[in-house]
Amino acid sequence: MSKLWNSFHDKERVEPICKKQLNDWGVDYFDLYIVHFPISLKYVDPSERYPPGFTYDGKNVVPGKATIQETWTAMESLVEKGLSKSIGISNFNGQLIMDLLRYAKIVPATLQIEHHPYLTQQRLVEFAHKEGMAVTAYSSFGPQSFIELEMQQAKDTPLLFDNETIKTIASKHGKTSAQVLLRWATQRGVAVIPKSNNQHRLAENLDVTGFDLRKSELDEISGLNQNLRFNDPLNVSIRLSLILNIRFRILTLGSMVFPSLSTYRYGHEQQATRPRRHLDQK
Ligand SMILES: NC(=O)c1ccc[n+]([C@@H]2O[C@H](COP(=O)([O-])OP(=O)(O)OC[C@H]3O[C@@H](n4cnc5c(N)ncnc54)[C@H](OP(=O)(O)O)[C@@H]3O)[C@@H](O)[C@H]2O)c1
Repeated sequence: MSKLWNSFHDKERVEPICKKQLNDWGVDYFDLYIVHFPISLKYVDPSERYPPGFTYDGKNVVPGKATIQETWTAMESLVEKGLSKSIGISNFNGQLIMDLLRYAKIVPATLQIEHHPYLTQQRLVEFAHKEGMAVTAYSSFGPQSFIELEMQQAKDTPLLFDNETIKTIASKHGKTSAQVLLRWATQRGVAVIPKSNNQHRLAENLDVTGFDLRKSELDEISGLNQNLRFNDPLNVSIRLSLILNIRFRILTLGSMVFPSLSTYRYGHEQQATRPRRHLDQK
């Protein structure tokens, strides 16, 4: 499984980058290939920078010209050519999906979204299911995965692992908070793809189907919803270009040295393009 990054949304870029990713993985086809974001960014040649992240030239976020229809039609041709068995989308809201369904010859097999008790996305999940899409959750542990990306908003948010509701339910079932968070999602019909660099936690995250939460417990956990979204690319990309512009000006004045941001990469996009040995290796 892999994802199409924002810089490769133009119709003539989709197949070549998919083939590069297949080649990087050493496989002939993907089981699933998904559009990472409903965002088109200006093409960056892989020989110049790969993975390109959000910026065009290492400094500026430059929009591309591809519509989602253009990209989706190119995605469909990957299936026709046998380069991917299924295709899907990620980080789309309900309105964008409604639009896509007007012209799609292939209904997305999956919708991958940020999903945890602080962001339950109930209506979107129901809508996707009704339209025949499987829903997959990323960031099932809420702020946890964003802390390692140094996101202040995540650092300022109480960990779901420490939440009293989650802890109490976990202790009743003799499970960890992480296991309860994963089971809450799967009992809502949402697939989970937790990642860990720790062998013990990998095993723990797989051992989440041998128990059931009661309806009242599911409701109690869903009641923690705050519509709190951590993965907001608009926020990330605008902040990034602002930071880089400020840094550029300050460096031009020669008055200060900022820690280099030129190697900044959008963490999740890197994961999607780099072979890993953990649970996200699909
Ligand atoms: N479509 C998108 O836009 C998007 C965005 C983000 C992520 N994703 C995908 O989602 C998948 C999951 O990535 P994620 O970023 O969402 O991370 P995640 O799985 O929600 O969280 C990973 C973090 O949780 C910790 N962790 C894992 N299992 C644990 C456990 N049982 N107890 C305590 N801590 C635990 C890990 O630390 P340790 O390593 O130390 O265990 C790591 O800090 C990846 O395949 C990624 O590519 C997709």
